Order: sequence, then C-alpha cells, then structure tokens
Amino acid sequence: MKTVVLVFHPHWEQSRVNKALVKGLDSQIEVRNMYQLYPDFQIDVATEHRVLEAADRIVLQFPMYWYSSPALLKQWEDDVLSYGWAYGTGGTALHGKELMIAVSPGADNYGPEGFAKYSVRQLLRPFQATSRLIGTTYLKPFVTTGAASLTDSQLATQVQQYHNYVRNDDLVALGDFE
Ligand SMILES: Cc1cc2nc3c(=O)[nH]c(=O)nc-3n(C[C@H](O)[C@H](O)[C@H](O)COP(=O)(O)O)c2cc1C
Repeated sequence: MKTVVLVFHPHWEQSRVNKALVKGLDSQIEVRNMYQLYPDFQIDVATEHRVLEAADRIVLQFPMYWYSSPALLKQWEDDVLSYGWAYGTGGTALHGKELMIAVSPGADNYGPEGFAKYSVRQLLRPFQATSRLIGTTYLKPFVTTGAASLTDSQLATQVQQYHNYVRNDDLVALGDFE
C-alpha cells in the first residue's frame, strides 16, 4: 500500500507534537510538508493531483486550529479537490482510496461533558462529508488530544501508535454516525 502524509502546520519550527509524529514514520511513507512547499498558498494543483493519484492511502495531518484546520488545508481542498477530477462529472480520481485525518487538538476537553461540548470526531464531520463526496473510504481519525500538555513518555507512545496505525493495511471505515 502506498501512503502519502500531507502535513499542514504553519509554524513547523515550533511544533513539538506533529514534528514528533512525522519523525516516527518510516521512510516507506511519503511525507509532504505543505506549508514548506506552499508558503504563499500558491498550490501546484497538477503536482498534487499526481501525488494523490499515486497513493492508496491519503493522510491529512494537522494541529487543530479553531476547532478546524490551519488555513492551507482549506486552500488545498478548494484548489486540489477540483470539479471533474475529485467530484462531479468524470470526477473519480480518488474513488476507492483511503482518507485518514490525523489531528492534534491542544486541549483535552472534548465530548458532551467537556467545555468544547462536541467530540473531535463530530468536529471533523466536514472532512467525513467531503470524503463521501470524493469517493474515498473515511478511516477512523487518529487523534492526539491534549497535545499541548503531553509528557515526553505519552508523546513517545503516541508516536509509536501513529506509526503502527498509518502502516496498518487493514484499517476499517468509520461509520457515518460514529
Ligand atoms: C491559532 C491556533 C488555534 C488553535 N485552536 C485550537 C482549537 O480549536 N482546539 C484545540 O484543542 N487546540 C487549538 N490550538 C492548539 C493546537 O492545536 C496545539 O498547540 C497543537 O496541536 C500542538 O501541536 P504541535 O506541537 O505540533 O504544534 C490552537 C493553536 C493555535 C496556534
């Protein structure tokens, strides 16, 4: 299985968690640091189409920003998931591929009992709906909650689990309302 990880982090030099998660991946996995590739938000759509066409599993990795994603990921969606390619008439380029969200919320107050009220999976619904539109299989997201306060040993465990999860060829789809 060919896996590509697209990392969207606007302050890569200051990242602790996402940097560690990427470092833990082996060299079989292609990692693209999108803010380094496109600091001016001028995404090379043809190149990104080729990258996605060559992949079986697409991982979108990012720190949670405002209960959503950093801005470049939204730009990537707007530009790369184009009509006639990703959706609409003839838009079947991604059909049958797997899509995984790997998100790190800094806080750990998610779910009905927490301040945020909504679960991380609920907040990720736009990605799940998009996955449906573009015909990908939406895998269970890999969530690193409390990313702002992980101990070194908790982070090391998370790094190992991320590697195992991304490399696992037998992941199942998340249900529509899970
Ligand atoms: C602009 C901005 C918005 C953020 N919004 C959220 C948020 O909505 N929810 C949350 O849990 N953490 C939020 N955070 C915290 C980051 O998600 C957290 O610091 C990051 O995941 C840690 O990973 P890193 O070490 O790779 O930077 C935000 C941080 C910034 C800078």
